[in-house]
Amino acid sequence: MKACIFDLDGVLVDSAKYHYLAWKALADKLGFEFTEKDNERLKGVSRMKSLEILLEIGGVLMSDEEKEKAATEKNGLYRSFISKMTPDEILPGVEDFLKEVKAAGLKTSIGSASKNTPLIMERAGLSKYFDAVADGTMVSKAKPDPEVFLKGAELLGVDPKDCVVFEDAEAGVEAAHNAGMKAVGIGSPTTLGKAELVIPNFVGFKLSYLTF
Ligand code: BG6
Ligand code: MG
Repeated sequence: MKACIFDLDGVLVDSAKYHYLAWKALADKLGFEFTEKDNERLKGVSRMKSLEILLEIGGVLMSDEEKEKAATEKNGLYRSFISKMTPDEILPGVEDFLKEVKAAGLKTSIGSASKNTPLIMERAGLSKYFDAVADGTMVSKAKPDPEVFLKGAELLGVDPKDCVVFEDAEAGVEAAHNAGMKAVGIGSPTTLGKAELVIPNFVGFKLSYLTF
């Protein structure tokens, strides 16, 4: 293994809750219920695809123009949440693990669908741990397509087979496999069962646990 590629939302920072709150505000306005379980389906997928899934859940039809407006409105609310983010919102155990990865001489990249990646990295103070950032502004195909992880490997100059991906979304685990990479799922084995290893979070996690 030569590199670690990290998803951002829900893996390094607790921004998944802000995505949920912002989508829920839209669902409330449209008059339907949107639960945290429903929200699992939105994890890892692009903003527009997330909106389409949300509208399908609510049984709401919108024109392309209305969809653009709704996605922009959701993003405005989401950005108002993340612009107040601090390094305190880095998830438990993450910084210790990133320090170990860097000390071991491995390369690091972000592999996130989010177009808000630069704002989050800056607010959370995460940039110092990363050699490269591949995000939603650089790719056109959403996870489970491997594009964002292949971009991360390319930016690092590392062969995809020598990369391990850390992901909290089912679509992200599939994207890692589609890229020819191994995946560590962060969260529940129920949703992330296809990953080579599933851990609840990074607390106490060490590089030596990657035995696959
Ligand atoms: C992913 C999230 O990281 O980014 C998704 O898991 C989100 O829920 C996607 O829809 C796109 O994010 P953004 O910030 O560009 O709307
Ligand atoms: Mg995620």
